This record gives sequence, C-alpha cells and structure tokens, in this order.
Amino acid sequence: MASKTYGIDFGTSTIKICRKGQGIVLNERNVIAIADRDRIIASGDEAYEMYEKAPANIKVTYPVRSGVIADVGNMMALLSQFMYKISGLKKPGSADYIVATPTDITEVERRSFYDLIASSNIKSGHIKIVEKPIADALGAGLDIMTARGVMVVDIGADTTEVSILSLGGIVLSKLIPVGGNKLDEAIKGIVKRQYNLYIGDKTAENVKKKLACALPSLKASVKVYGRDVVNGLPTETEISSKTVYEAISEYLYTIIDAIRIILERTPPEISSDIIDSGIYITGGSARIFGLDELLHKETDLKINICENPAETVALGLGRIMEESRLNSLADVLKPKMLTN
Ligand SMILES: Nc1ncnc2c1ncn2[C@@H]1O[C@H](COP(=O)(O)OP(=O)(O)OP(=O)(O)O)[C@@H](O)[C@H]1O
Ligand SMILES: [Mg+2]
Repeated sequence: MASKTYGIDFGTSTIKICRKGQGIVLNERNVIAIADRDRIIASGDEAYEMYEKAPANIKVTYPVRSGVIADVGNMMALLSQFMYKISGLKKPGSADYIVATPTDITEVERRSFYDLIASSNIKSGHIKIVEKPIADALGAGLDIMTARGVMVVDIGADTTEVSILSLGGIVLSKLIPVGGNKLDEAIKGIVKRQYNLYIGDKTAENVKKKLACALPSLKASVKVYGRDVVNGLPTETEISSKTVYEAISEYLYTIIDAIRIILERTPPEISSDIIDSGIYITGGSARIFGLDELLHKETDLKINICENPAETVALGLGRIMEESRLNSLADVLKPKMLTN
C-alpha cells in the first residue's frame, strides 16, 4: 500500500478529489484548455474561465461526457495536472486510488477509469473501483451495510443516476442522460426563441442557478447579456423565472419518470423501507429550488435533499478509505448489479 490514498469522482462538469484523512482537497471544473493541438495552457477552473472566450487555436473541452471518459488522452493529462496541484510537487509520489464509476455502464467503460490512472504519468499503487451510488449513499451519511433498503438519486451535470441499495450492494440502478447541462441547453433554446437572443453556456448556467425552480410559483427575473439573433449586436434583456420554468420542467419530469420506473421494479420489502425513510437526492442539480416539493408531490414519498449534494460521492469515497468496515466496498472491478 502506498502511504497516500485519493478518492476521485470524475464528474462531467466538476472533478472532486478526496484524500484519506484530509477530506476534499480538490473541486474544480473538469476542463482542459489546449493551444495549437498539443500544448496544455490551463486546467480546471482556470481553463473554464477561457470557455467560450478562446480564439480558434485554443480548444477548451470537457473530457468526461455522460458520466464516462470520452477523451482518455486529455483526461489523463488533466489528472496529472490536478495531482501536481494537490501535492504541490513537480512529481507527486506514488499513491493508491479509489475511483467512483456509474453502475449502469458497460464493462469497457468501467475499465477505462482504471486504465486511465494505470496508464497516466502519475505513479499509482493499488487502483480500486467503487460503484458511484454506494459512495453517494455513504457520503449522504447513510448506513448501507444493513438489510434496510435505500434509494439515492444523483442529479449531476450530464447524468441522473437512480439507485436502490441494500446490504452494501446495488439492487437496481439506472443512468439517464439528463442533468444540469440539459437544463442549461433548454434555457439557451427558449431565450433564443422568445427573446431572439443568443446566450452562452455560462450565462445559461448562471440564469439557472438564480431562477430555476421546480414549481411555477417563483416570481423573479434577472438581466442577461447576449447577442441579438437578428441584428447581431450585443444586447441585454430581462429573463423571468416563468420562462426558465417553461424550459426546464420537461426534463424534471424525465427524471421523475426514471424514479418511477425504478420504484416499480423495487422488491416490495425494500419499497416499505423507502416509504419509511424517503428518497435521498444528491448531485449539484439537487440545489434547484422547490425540487423536494415537486418530487414529493409526484411520488408521495419523503424527499431528503443532501447537504453539499455535489460532493457526496467524494465524501463517500473518503469514508470507504477511512472506515475499516467499509474498505471491502472498493474492489478492482465490482460485480455487476443484480437486476435491471
Ligand atoms: N444552485 C444550483 N442550482 C441549480 N443547479 C446547480 C446549482 N449548483 C450547481 N448546479 C448544477 O449542478 C451540476 C453539477 O453537479 P455535479 O457536480 O454533481 O455534476 P457532475 O458530477 O460534474 O456531473 P455527472 O455526475 O453528471 O457526471 C451542474 O449542471 C450545475 O449547473
Ligand atoms: Mg456526479
């Protein structure tokens, strides 16, 4: 065993790294900026600052898409940059790694998380994999080693993962390609149609953070800047929460449908546990106002929005590293889920 152990949640929008005994040591945009095809000029939050502002010779990209590694080369390069940043050294020493991977992906996709670390130029000892819903539930403070079933819904940037856990394993899990990014795109689309205004991804995300509400009750508005579709000039306009609600509600209902499908397939004994303790919501998009109220209205279940929802996976990896009774939850490659 190496003396240091890190847990990594390779999120589509943000990467979170936790170090054994120290908690979360990095939480940055999972973005890389490359100039002239092969020169890395920025990583993480610094690269995100360049997003949508860079000249043609600089490419600013996200190497993780829909929860899986879409661009292995750039993700490897980014990981080394992040590890240098954390260690403060030119060459970080050897460390063990635990990586969280979605459950409902192919074995090849799961393997790529392992290969990414093994083949990168950071020195690694043991590399273990944990299924993300397990880390999520632990990070939410739940005890998953008992026979009491729990339901966790992680609403991230590119994905929503709905899972049922019991006895330290996953009973059911479904990954759908809907998360905060879809809401941002929908906001961009409606602003273009209703106000004839092009806005960027960053502006759309900021509008969402200020105005997105899962229920039509919020009455608020914000000023946004963009480019007029007709005359091409920079323009400002006021966007209302009603417009944002119109854009996003369809996607919130897609998430509700995924929750319903999993609830319908849940074994009855576990269903009764879920009626008792409710659904646990994690992931950055859990911060949408009124989401708990909408989910409660649609499922009739108690809804628990977790504290620091975007960090629960990394916090759970921390618990697996630190609590010896949980160590066995990390494995080289965990078995697949029981049913789907
Ligand atoms: N206050 C907020 N209101 C609404 N959405 C928010 C808020 N804060 C963050 N988000 C959204 O949460 C998402 C990021 O969440 P998270 O870090 O859990 O995703 P990720 O782990 O990178 O993605 P994935 O799990 O899909 O790979 C982004 O879409 C972001 O816009
Ligand atoms: Mg995530």
